[in-house]
Amino acid sequence: MKLLEERIRKDGIVKPGNVLKVDSFLNHQMDIELFSEMGKEFKRLYEGCPINKILTIEASGIGIACIAAQYFHVPVVFAKKTQSINLDGDVYSTKIQSFTHRRIYDVIVSKKFLSPEDHVLIIDDFLANGCALEGLIDIVKSSGATIEGVGIAIEKGFQKGGDLIRGKGIRVESLAIVDGMNAETGEVFFREQ
Ligand code: G4P
Ligand code: NA
Ligand code: NA
Repeated sequence: MKLLEERIRKDGIVKPGNVLKVDSFLNHQMDIELFSEMGKEFKRLYEGCPINKILTIEASGIGIACIAAQYFHVPVVFAKKTQSINLDGDVYSTKIQSFTHRRIYDVIVSKKFLSPEDHVLIIDDFLANGCALEGLIDIVKSSGATIEGVGIAIEKGFQKGGDLIRGKGIRVESLAIVDGMNAETGEVFFREQ
């Protein structure tokens, strides 16, 4: 998506360690007009798919998922990160390992909000190693719902997540795929799609 790529070029900041900071428009301060265009693009890409629910994960996925949901006319469910050791039987739960934060956390979704009749689009801001996404996929599978696909704002194409998830036969649409970054010059290289 050209609009997102241009915005990343203009306002994204390349940090050492292959980290792309986009907190002025995507995951701290949020540009809602940009989110609307992203939502329309997800809708265009998934036109014709019987999606009745969007699933995301707190925190940064929520804003993008909510604006996208206005074009799909479906509710958004967000998976909650929790510390609680005593998980009751009313929730689907999975463990997610964060490489960035070097820890493992439990993620839950109430069984009330996902069931075998659901056709789910999973949305998130970043796809890097794919751990968050694997966790969300795990939760949808335990519910018996169908995964229609995944919508990502920014995929870091040089990390393993994209190949990993597509390798499972799951459709992944990323609005911008970054294939490389140069922290010295600030350049960001996008994959042609
Ligand atoms: P993974 O889920 O794809 O395996 O990612 P990883 O563990 O490597 O990343 C952990 C967190 O860092 C995730 O957010 C992910 O979205 C984010 N992230 C990964 N690479 C980048 C990057 O280059 N730039 C930015 N800005 N974020 C990146 P999170 O901790 O789950 O949460 P939240 O921010 O949504 O609360
Ligand atoms: Na995220
Ligand atoms: Na994030």
